Amino acid sequence: MAVTTSVTDPQTDFKINAMGTFNTLEAARASGNNPSFIYSSTNKVYGGMEDVETVELDSRYDYANLPEGCAENQALDFHSPYGCSKGCGDQYVRDYSRIYGLPTTVFRQSCIYGLRQFGVEDQGWVAWFVIAAITGHPITIYGNGKQVRDILFVEDLLDAYDAALSNPGKAAGQIFNVGGGRSNTISIWTEFAPILEKLLGRDIPVAWGDWRPGDQPVFISDIRKAKNVLNWSPKVSAQEGIQRLFSWVKENRTLF
Ligand SMILES: NC(=O)c1ccc[n+]([C@@H]2O[C@H](COP(=O)([O-])OP(=O)(O)OC[C@H]3O[C@@H](n4cnc5c(N)ncnc54)[C@H](O)[C@@H]3O)[C@@H](O)[C@H]2O)c1
Repeated sequence: MAVTTSVTDPQTDFKINAMGTFNTLEAARASGNNPSFIYSSTNKVYGGMEDVETVELDSRYDYANLPEGCAENQALDFHSPYGCSKGCGDQYVRDYSRIYGLPTTVFRQSCIYGLRQFGVEDQGWVAWFVIAAITGHPITIYGNGKQVRDILFVEDLLDAYDAALSNPGKAAGQIFNVGGGRSNTISIWTEFAPILEKLLGRDIPVAWGDWRPGDQPVFISDIRKAKNVLNWSPKVSAQEGIQRLFSWVKENRTLF
């Protein structure tokens, strides 16, 4: 589930994400029970979104013309083996609803974070920065740190899954972008560092590296479809979620 590892070992990535998803769909179909099927897709299926104009502000990037963020009808553009394997699963899951009538739902997730997340440099950046800051691991920021993401606390993601499972009539065959939305956006370092440094009570030294391939300068999910269809919206603010994650890592320092 990391872009970086998918580049070094694309076959394993394909076997797990694409083939694994396909096998799971086939098992669901063969069961004869018509089970609900939820797929954890990713905003990476939209690729670098080079056709979408962005602006560089003091502490962050933003979209020039997408005030609500990126909607589900944004063109697909699989970039990286991870993007391809997840995008493959995304389309198969959707199609099994059309072709076989399986009640499937695709959630294109933005950055998910929360307690008990063992984030590493390659994946789970919110948790990784918190863990590294508390344990004193060196941190490298790839790019200029102004990349923007809408972050979603894992409990809110589970609420979205529950909303789909309890409303199969509305959720079957649907694709939803889920993330923190515009009100829970943060730039990965220029805006995140001050919050983290305040919680930690000291400055956090970092090294700087080149941009990662395919890294979006900004990704913000337009979550209006999930709000309208599933009556779902995030409840945990970025500020509260980061504080809760920070406290959990601090209390469980010996695990890292
Ligand atoms: N965390 C995010 O921000 C985020 C965002 C978008 C999409 N996703 C998707 O959510 C899913 C879960 O990711 P996560 O961030 O919770 O990662 P995670 O590492 O916490 O969980 C991955 C899980 O997959 C299991 N797994 C790995 N290989 C397997 C295999 N061959 N067979 C069976 N199980 C296997 C692991 O044991 C682990 O429990 C992934 O499909 C990922 O693409 C995550």
